[in-house]
Amino acid sequence: QQFTIAVIPGDGIGNEVVPEGLRVLERIGSIFGFTFRFQHFDWSCELYKNSGRMMPEDGIARLRDHDAIFFGAVGFPGVPDHISLWGLLIPIRRELDQYVNLRPVRLFPGVVAPVRAEAGEIDFWVVRENSEGEYSQIGGRLFAGTADEVVVQESVFTRRGTDRILRYAFEFAGRLERKHVTSATKSNGLFYSMPFWDERFAAMAAEYPDVQADQYHIDILAARFVMSPQRFSVVVGSNLFGDILSDLGPGVTGTIGIAPSGNINPERVYPSMFEPVHGSAPDIAGKGIANPIGQIWSAAMMLEHLGQAEAAAAIMSAIERVVAGDRNLLTPDMGGKGTTRSLADAIVNAL
Ligand code: NAI
Ligand code: MG
Repeated sequence: QQFTIAVIPGDGIGNEVVPEGLRVLERIGSIFGFTFRFQHFDWSCELYKNSGRMMPEDGIARLRDHDAIFFGAVGFPGVPDHISLWGLLIPIRRELDQYVNLRPVRLFPGVVAPVRAEAGEIDFWVVRENSEGEYSQIGGRLFAGTADEVVVQESVFTRRGTDRILRYAFEFAGRLERKHVTSATKSNGLFYSMPFWDERFAAMAAEYPDVQADQYHIDILAARFVMSPQRFSVVVGSNLFGDILSDLGPGVTGTIGIAPSGNINPERVYPSMFEPVHGSAPDIAGKGIANPIGQIWSAAMMLEHLGQAEAAAAIMSAIERVVAGDRNLLTPDMGGKGTTRSLADAIVNAL
């Protein structure tokens, strides 16, 4: 069996961790008997500086026929972040209808977490709405540059968009051992959007009596992530709340360098995209010390999506063994002295 994968390393450390992810994929394929055809795209801030575009005009169309997209990171000093993000990542997510952003949070043995928890105790998923909500281009600036300047930024919550992400969260939780969904809300402060979100959450919860449901305002929920991360199983949030929680979660487990994500089109009409949670890390780019685990774990999520659950599990077990092993192999963000290369080598060897 062969999978065709679109590869977009993007900017900064994306160019350092994506090749390590590909190396792990090649290796796992040779063990389990499948191959990859990787098609590389140089879409990035570099391309923007040369051509005025983050990707070609027909970029999205060129991605459509792939089985999946393997993405690094986008954004780099010199190009404003809203230009780079809206020029590449957000159009891919929206036009390929990847409305679920799925992000696991797990504490591995051997990792020192900034919270009091044992390995295995923190193990949950953030399900983030990925296509609408607070991230919109609706709004504007009036009287720009004057003392009377007014800025309006709209959020958009559709019934269809809200219901489909909530349903995904309940379906997902229903397949887990701990059948429990927590909703992130802020219906005391946001007058229209979040009361609507709560209403739809309650309606969905009624359809899934076997799944325990509760909800917290985003402020106290953030505090609970730090004080009692053990209690969560699936946490569902809007685009903005989900974005914040899915960095906070990995932060609580020690480093965001290991966190992966899937931008998923559950109906499989379009390819899904797998990328680490972290960005292009300009502060360490070019130094060869970026943690490759977020990218490699993203490769495992991609394999799971492609129906190769056993291969995905093998990668996860290799990561766990390496992380619990020789500290010196780990990258500095995990307290080690290793490099991107040495850590990835250790994982490839463990496979
Ligand atoms: P960032 O995730 O790039 O970096 C935050 C901090 O975490 C930095 O200190 C960085 O060195 C560290 N870090 C990140 N990944 C790491 C890894 N694999 N190993 C070790 N340390 C790691 O977030 P930041 O600084 O807010 O954004 C930098 C650029 O990346 C911006 O242009 C931003 O727009 C973009 N970005 C892109 C994302 C994406 O492509 N999905 C997500 C987040 C930010
Ligand atoms: Mg983020």
